[in-house]
Amino acid sequence: MIPRKKIIAGNWKMNKTQAEARVLVEDLLRDVGRFDAAEIVLCPPFTALAAVSELLSAETNIRLGAQNLNEHASGAYTGEISAAMLKELYVRYVIIGHSERRQYYKEDNATVNRKTKAALAAEIKPIVCIGETLPEREGNTWKKVLETQLTEGLAGFAEAEVHDIVLAYEPVWAIGTGKTATPAQAEEAHQFIRTHLGKLVSPAAAERVRIQYGGSVKPENARELLNQPNIDGALVGGASLDARGFTSIIKNACAS
Ligand code: 13P
Repeated sequence: MIPRKKIIAGNWKMNKTQAEARVLVEDLLRDVGRFDAAEIVLCPPFTALAAVSELLSAETNIRLGAQNLNEHASGAYTGEISAAMLKELYVRYVIIGHSERRQYYKEDNATVNRKTKAALAAEIKPIVCIGETLPEREGNTWKKVLETQLTEGLAGFAEAEVHDIVLAYEPVWAIGTGKTATPAQAEEAHQFIRTHLGKLVSPAAAERVRIQYGGSVKPENARELLNQPNIDGALVGGASLDARGFTSIIKNACAS
């Protein structure tokens, strides 16, 4: 079995001007610019991508990610950004189907599927987000929800394409709430996702695909979460906006 390299991504959401982004990235380059025990990905807003891209062009292991893309190649889609536009800025990853996009912008699993296809076609690795809401967790329908999100979101992809996909399990009830899934709860969900992926694609693909956990990841809980056998990284929101906090998440996540 090929060991899965951990992947820690910072989702800045709608935060940081270009000037603020530069300050944060310069601090991170100093602290973890050569860190090699995990892949580090920064996902700034679109307006800061070029500035961050320029800073990351020096020798560093930190990669650039975007928070969204449009599924069409080009055309009359006011306000949207294509895969080619991201590719030109050396974007290597793109977050797709974040619960905030599903909730506020009505993205469904079919949209996620089309966007994932567009990203893969441009050789940008999709970080596909799935996760249940609080009523779904409490009503014990979370497994069904995750199953549907995976089955519909990843419909029609070849095994080799799935290898390039990163999944992010983000229970909606844990995002920005300070409520983290316990390591046991998160591990149970990750294991369930991997098993379903095995049936959906192949056992080999399931072994290979990295599954990040997201939802109130902080320096204090990163180590225990990331020490679970099926948790291969973190998608960090609020705590990725501060260089100190994000750096200690990265370091704690990789300490066994
Ligand atoms: P928080 O870390 O702020 O809870 O956000 C998680 C998230 O949505 C990352 O994509």
